[in-house]
Amino acid sequence: MPKSLFRLYPPPYEEVSLKGLYLRELLNQRGSTERPFVYANFLTSLDGRIALEDAKGEPYLPKSLTTPDDFRLFLELQCQADCLITHGGYLRALSRGRLGNILQIGVHPLGADLLGWRIRQGLSPQPAVVIASASLDFPMPESIRKSGQSCYIATGEGADPVRVDFWRKQGYEVIFAGQGRMVEGGLLTSHLGRLGYRTIYLVAGPHMLDTMVRESRLSLLFQTITHQLMGGEAFSSLVPGPELGSFGHLRMVSLYYDPVAPTGAGQWFAQFECSGHESAGWR
Ligand SMILES: NC(=O)c1ccc[n+]([C@@H]2O[C@H](COP(=O)([O-])OP(=O)(O)OC[C@H]3O[C@@H](n4cnc5c(N)ncnc54)[C@H](OP(=O)(O)O)[C@@H]3O)[C@@H](O)[C@H]2O)c1
Repeated sequence: MPKSLFRLYPPPYEEVSLKGLYLRELLNQRGSTERPFVYANFLTSLDGRIALEDAKGEPYLPKSLTTPDDFRLFLELQCQADCLITHGGYLRALSRGRLGNILQIGVHPLGADLLGWRIRQGLSPQPAVVIASASLDFPMPESIRKSGQSCYIATGEGADPVRVDFWRKQGYEVIFAGQGRMVEGGLLTSHLGRLGYRTIYLVAGPHMLDTMVRESRLSLLFQTITHQLMGGEAFSSLVPGPELGSFGHLRMVSLYYDPVAPTGAGQWFAQFECSGHESAGWR
């Protein structure tokens, strides 16, 4: 039987199918090259953890935060983008087998139907990939070239010129989108718009989320909140930077309830509009 959820907001309260829930958002139609539509998706516990740290101080994603239902929705969001932003840390984790591959559409059995959906929407089979990195020290996965994806490396003006040269010699375009070593959300989003991208899915971590929100470039935040108090003395939360003030004030657009998640705790699937986004000054 197809999995269903309960819509808690907006009214009316209603049972809805999980499959297709986020495809109906048609995010791929919301952006333009002048104002790319940037969205992100995070999993958190009720006490705000997105990751815990192991004994060596290495962050990891606890298994109990993830469920197949959440992953299906992640894939529905991913297939609507013409550009994915990931980062050096993910590529290092991927090469060590600590995280699975999320760089191509239609490869995971839970999202096998999504390549067809994407093509029916008039999108290219695979999105471009942008790798944000300050160190420029990461392995490039074979799958990007094999899938014919455009691939860019984004860094700051202060990046090591030897590393910049290394990637250019391998044929990659390096985008400078920050004054120091870090990538800044505003500069990167505007640059990607000039390259022709309209719908950008941030599949990076808390630092990229921080800069996108702080610079009013995030349009929508999707958040899965699992009903568990996780604890753990060392942890990461959504935004690592200083106090955000009104940049962090969000408006809830929808809220769905999944009472029977396989972890034994229920979960909410929430969607928030970022209030600062509309008034952001575009460069
Ligand atoms: N629960 C969730 O939904 C969720 C989502 C994402 C991540 N996580 C977890 O949270 C923990 C920390 O996240 P993370 O390691 O993915 O991300 P992160 O700590 O935000 O960033 C990791 C790496 O990304 C690059 N990077 C990030 N922001 C950058 C910027 N503005 N400019 C240039 N480079 C930038 C840097 O790579 P270089 O070192 O190459 O410079 C950095 O070391 C991990 O355990 C991860 O699994 C959880």
